[in-house]
Amino acid sequence: MKVRHLIDSCDLTVKEVEELIKLANKIMDNPNKYNTCCKNKILATLFFEPSTRTRLSFEAAMHRLGGSVLGFADGASSSGAKGESVSDTVKTVSCYTDIIAMRHPKEGSAFVAAEVSNVPFINGGDGGHYHPTQTLTDLLTIYNVKNKFEDFVIGFCGDLKFGRTVHSLVKAMARYKNISFIFISPVELVIPDYLKKDVLEKNNIKYYESTNLEKEISKLDILYMTRVQKERFFNESDYIRLKDTYILNQEKLKNAKEDLCIMHPLPRVNEISREVDSDSRAAYFKQAKYGVYIRMALIMKLLEIEEKVC
Ligand code: CP
Repeated sequence: MKVRHLIDSCDLTVKEVEELIKLANKIMDNPNKYNTCCKNKILATLFFEPSTRTRLSFEAAMHRLGGSVLGFADGASSSGAKGESVSDTVKTVSCYTDIIAMRHPKEGSAFVAAEVSNVPFINGGDGGHYHPTQTLTDLLTIYNVKNKFEDFVIGFCGDLKFGRTVHSLVKAMARYKNISFIFISPVELVIPDYLKKDVLEKNNIKYYESTNLEKEISKLDILYMTRVQKERFFNESDYIRLKDTYILNQEKLKNAKEDLCIMHPLPRVNEISREVDSDSRAAYFKQAKYGVYIRMALIMKLLEIEEKVC
């Protein structure tokens, strides 16, 4: 039987995403009901790049489902350091475990890994490409804050070139009705052409690009801030020049809608002032918390564990 993998946010249909959101909310309301769903199942977390939220929320999710976890938080402690390929690593680990989550700095590594995995494989971020489980977390946040997925003006602000969470969420939100996008970034960090051409223009989705957060903020229903991705720059002086281009603070929020939803995948560096954390519109720590529940739902789906057996 063919196993399901998650490489890109659109590997799941809109209906499947909605089912996952429903299940995540049920788990959140009654977590004890699910605490043996993955008894005797093992999750591997293979992280070749640093992570706090993705790795630990996957691990928390599996523990909370009654399963166990093995893996590494640093590729330097795996046989990758001796020159083993990603595909050999994943092929081997899929003999030991029931499901795998991997983060790797190379774009496309998730695709290569999924090709050889005998168990469900989840992309926990491949370079500046995609981060589909962050997208599921973001979708759960949007749904729980706004109670819908349609009729939004969504602003993405910061590093839109390397920000994989942006790429995955744009693709996912482009599937809903009456969504338009405003992409706010320095000219050096604009959203990739393939997203503009193959996702937005092809589907007649309205968007424009801007360099000015202050000018755009009043138009937005959702503002998705991102950090400038230091680890993807070849040149440190460019990073230093661009890193503080946008800093969201209370002054800028004076012109924002009262029901603006402020999101950020985290980690934050300087791009949202600490004073914003207590604003009722700030959703980013809620977003981090939701990551556990949506990953619990995803693990259950990919392992084909029915709610009734829990
Ligand atoms: N949002 C996110 O991917 O965070 P981590 O890098 O801490 O996993």
